[in-house]
Amino acid sequence: MRGGIMFSMQQSWFDDSDGFDIALRWRESPDGEVFELIVNGMFAMDSVDASSELELARLAPPASRRVLVGGLGLGFTAGDLLDRLPDAAVTVAELSSALIGWAREGIVPGLARVAQDPRATLWHVDVAEALRTTSDWDAILLDVDNGPGFLIHDSNATLYGGSLLSAARDALAPGGLLAIWCENATPSLDAALRELGGDVWQVEVPVERDGHQITYAIHCLRR
Ligand SMILES: C[S@@+](CC[C@H](N)C(=O)[O-])C[C@H]1O[C@@H](n2cnc3c(N)ncnc32)[C@H](O)[C@@H]1O
Repeated sequence: MRGGIMFSMQQSWFDDSDGFDIALRWRESPDGEVFELIVNGMFAMDSVDASSELELARLAPPASRRVLVGGLGLGFTAGDLLDRLPDAAVTVAELSSALIGWAREGIVPGLARVAQDPRATLWHVDVAEALRTTSDWDAILLDVDNGPGFLIHDSNATLYGGSLLSAARDALAPGGLLAIWCENATPSLDAALRELGGDVWQVEVPVERDGHQITYAIHCLRR
């Protein structure tokens, strides 16, 4: 039970104070509880299968001390980093102040776990700004949108272009890793990363959703 007396097995939270709509929804399903994030009326993610969010976290070099995560979401990537890398400080750049607030309120257990960890910093900022103004990251893990072909925030288009990618590469410590989650393999992003030099590759993550097989892609660059 959360938030007092419940009359149906679902609940939602909504905010538009950052200039866009964000809704967090909770429901009971036959397989357990499900959290869902809807941004600008579009499905952003849910808690049904977090394998690609966890795969993103597992790409961080094991010796990482400073990791920047772009996009808090439901906290899977950040939580996994905190669980597996005891010496790492994890900074999460998040566009929605409401989502950071919900994390601190403890509405979603996975988000509460991140918000309560003293090694985690939840930073209300556009990750583009974070990439331009910070440096020396052992890993930068970006999962803020679906990829350049299907954007939830039009303003995120810049993240997949040469100048921001170059800023991200420059923000890495030597040997650091940049990894970018995409809903599918994106040749234009692969080409833009190759232009920057360094090792470039992609990791495919097959997932079954609603009876359909989907293959997410994580584009990587090692400085
Ligand atoms: C798909 S979710 C991230 C999922 C996350 N990897 C996880 O494990 O739950 C995308 C998140 O990125 C945030 N976001 C979108 N654009 C952003 C930006 N430009 N800067 C920072 N956060 C952004 C959204 O508000 C949302 O919380």
